[in-house]
Amino acid sequence: MALKLLSPLRVGKVDAANRVFMAPCTRLRADLDQTPTPIMAEYYAQRAGAGIIITEGVNPSPLGRGEHNQPAMYTDAHEVGWAPVTDAVHRAGGRIFAQLMHVGRITFPELLPGAANPVAPSAVRPDPGFRGYSIRCPRHDRPFPTPDALDSAGVAREIDHFVEATTRAIRAGFDGVEIHAAGGYLPMQFLSSATNLRTDSYGGSIENRSRFLMEVIEGAGERVGAERIAVKLSPGFYFNDVHDDDSTALYSYVCQRLSGIGLAFVEVSDYRGRHSEDGIDPIGLVRRNYDGVVVANGGFDQDSAEELLQSGAADAVSFGGSFIANPDLPKRFETGAPLNAPVRSTYYTSPTGHFEVGYTDYPALSATP
Ligand SMILES: Cc1cc2nc3c(=O)[nH]c(=O)nc-3n(C[C@H](O)[C@H](O)[C@H](O)COP(=O)(O)O)c2cc1C
Repeated sequence: MALKLLSPLRVGKVDAANRVFMAPCTRLRADLDQTPTPIMAEYYAQRAGAGIIITEGVNPSPLGRGEHNQPAMYTDAHEVGWAPVTDAVHRAGGRIFAQLMHVGRITFPELLPGAANPVAPSAVRPDPGFRGYSIRCPRHDRPFPTPDALDSAGVAREIDHFVEATTRAIRAGFDGVEIHAAGGYLPMQFLSSATNLRTDSYGGSIENRSRFLMEVIEGAGERVGAERIAVKLSPGFYFNDVHDDDSTALYSYVCQRLSGIGLAFVEVSDYRGRHSEDGIDPIGLVRRNYDGVVVANGGFDQDSAEELLQSGAADAVSFGGSFIANPDLPKRFETGAPLNAPVRSTYYTSPTGHFEVGYTDYPALSATP
């Protein structure tokens, strides 16, 4: 039987050649001023066989940066720097969305303009014992500072940064953007009850906590069309020390609000296997409450992904580690070829600082002896 994974899928106005998407993966190969480097075009073009590539997290705002060498989309230079990336992917027959990622409180003043303090919905410090993030960047193995609560002008400004970055992304040739509302970063810090203690219209009730995300999506959709906007959610997963009182109620509401507006897709991560830390089933929750294309993510291999699609629980599956290590992942699924194993030590720039190591040097099938 033909693999459903390899069948085409219409996503907004994009025809994806297959349902094997590339999940967003931060790789830290941009310039220090956050402009994409030429090797990033090569890396993404190698992976153009994906139904849709979702890029690594791209910072929409100067205050959204969480790492050195992370790419961004808030200056003309960034926009110009992304154009060769989207062009290379399109010339290779692929489709590419930019993931807009604002880290909020998960950063340090040394990474922000004028050594500014990190910003967040409320002045809630990430648990000093939390070390999940610093695993990936040993030089950050120290507690995060207490962030400044955004005032109402600050909230409006950061929403506007998302909208402007979306506009820039489309001008730079992206087929769409994905708003990163997962992983404990800024939009999820607004969604989650433990990190959002605001008493204005952006905090308190579920409706109010969802307002930041909804205003980003509505603002971006007005500029470029809702069919070019996607969202990533991770219901019930508490990476980066977020927590929610009632993630089922929260994400049911969010998914219902995201329905009926014609978004490209919702990507939903279940990082712990098929159930979140809350014991809820994030993929099922999104499927039940959202009326559009659902992209499932988290720990899938070919067989479990195919089984999920055959069951109707999702429309596509995104792969992170497998796509990092296998530039031609859909081809390998088609031919039953073995997979290269990802090398974690080179996920975020190699120890020697050579960007190509563990990045563009994973062999494609034809080059595999
Ligand atoms: C090296 C690496 C970097 C990642 N960076 C991001 C990121 O920038 N944005 C994001 O939403 N998820 C990020 N993730 C999570 C992946 O998108 C994905 O959710 C996760 O790897 C689970 O999928 P997998 O089991 O297929 O790898 C990253 C994962 C890895 C391995």
